Amino acid sequence: MVSRRSRIAPMPRSARFGLVVVLLACLLVGCDGGVEGVAGGSGVRDPYFPKAGNGGYDVTHYGLTLDYEPKSRRLVGEAEIRARAEQDLSAFNLDLKGMDVRSVEVDGEPARFNRSGDHELTVRPRRDLDGGDSFVAVVRYEGVPEVVTDPDGSEEGWLPTEDGALGLGEPTGSMAWFPGNHHPSDKASYDIVVDVPEGLEAVSVGELRKRTVKGGRAVFGWRVSEPVASYVVTVAVGEFEIRRSRAGRLPVYVAVDPDQAADSAEVLDRIPEVMEWAEDYFGPYPFSSTGAIVEREDDAGYALETQNRPVFPGAPGVELLVHELVHQWYGNSVTPKSWRDMWLNEGFATYAEWLWNEDHGGDSAQDVFDALYDGDYFEKEAESDAVWDFPPARPPSAARISDSPVYERGAMVLHKVRQAVGDEVFFGILRGWAAERRHGNADTDDFTAYVEKTAPDEDFSGIWDDWLYGKGRPARP
Ligand code: TRP
Ligand code: ZN
Repeated sequence: MVSRRSRIAPMPRSARFGLVVVLLACLLVGCDGGVEGVAGGSGVRDPYFPKAGNGGYDVTHYGLTLDYEPKSRRLVGEAEIRARAEQDLSAFNLDLKGMDVRSVEVDGEPARFNRSGDHELTVRPRRDLDGGDSFVAVVRYEGVPEVVTDPDGSEEGWLPTEDGALGLGEPTGSMAWFPGNHHPSDKASYDIVVDVPEGLEAVSVGELRKRTVKGGRAVFGWRVSEPVASYVVTVAVGEFEIRRSRAGRLPVYVAVDPDQAADSAEVLDRIPEVMEWAEDYFGPYPFSSTGAIVEREDDAGYALETQNRPVFPGAPGVELLVHELVHQWYGNSVTPKSWRDMWLNEGFATYAEWLWNEDHGGDSAQDVFDALYDGDYFEKEAESDAVWDFPPARPPSAARISDSPVYERGAMVLHKVRQAVGDEVFFGILRGWAAERRHGNADTDDFTAYVEKTAPDEDFSGIWDDWLYGKGRPARP
């Protein structure tokens, strides 16, 4: 019936409109032959970073080959991106900020591309991709990668250091040094090969598989098989003292700037102890190696939980070490679905610090909770008040996703759950949450549903309403 009528029927209004849209799309991106698939989206509509990530495909693996020259700060890169089309695609976007793109190939054939906006690289394969197809995009690019200033004023991207460079990517800095689907919702495995002048080290995520020195260059091959969100991918190039050891079954790889070696030796020796402690609380470590990268204080402005081995600006205290290592469970293995769910990272990592102190002769978590509630925790009144600026699950803007309500008040939400269910059930929740969402993504609703499922007789609505979503300081119970 459809075919019979459609032949003679006049074109309906909606179809005429569709044709106009297609013609307009052709004017914008160019059409050769019929357009079957549509272009993948230029963002995944993150509430804070709407243009981060891209629609229409899912990356499974990145193969990055990076040649870096610290003197000129020039990076020559090749990114092999293995992905699966989630719909028919006539074009798809990658995120890349700055850098010159030399060529793009899709499945071995040259593809057309163009740059637009702040960081959109649109790739138009010679042949449309069918939904479900796996494809390989190879991007050759070079340039001096940018330092990116975050909405909150901190610096990320590719930071030149005294003797090399450091890639920091939270929330969107990784797009300064490799093209990709730069949103936490699309995790992938990585092979990262870094070619640097002989005498320098290149440290990255996962495990070092290959190291060769030849003709004045040193080449390092790193591989990580578990899923990684691109914001916790790093490369650190520079002079480092390398120490390898073990934490139980896990290899430990520590890279320390020689300036920081003396000050950080003692705390870094505690990595096995912290790992064992953390596994007792949070369950089996989700990755296959651990460690740390210690930069000079003025080379990295803050610590970041880069996968397998967090980055520290100078020797960390043990609490900061605990914080960043526990992010491997909460943040790197269980990764937020969007940047609005940051408290699932920071609230948990902060609560881990409280637990560490509670177990090591310091204040109990209850003490810290009370001090925060009473405004006695921070020295400055403004900082004490700032804890109540906004609800942890609803930061008001991108500039505030790393503020105190996300960290301290996020941890207070967990403490309220602990008070409601008692230690045994609470520690089961922490552990079970890490197990249930291992190597995946989650949002706040997933967490509250998980808590409710685990303790079905308890009513958590007051905690969620007041502590997670409510404005201002909740009333004293
Ligand atoms: N995640 C880091 C930590 O707590 C801090 C951080 C660095 C951060 N950059 C950020 C938090 C950007 C939010 C957004 O260890
Ligand atoms: Zn953190």
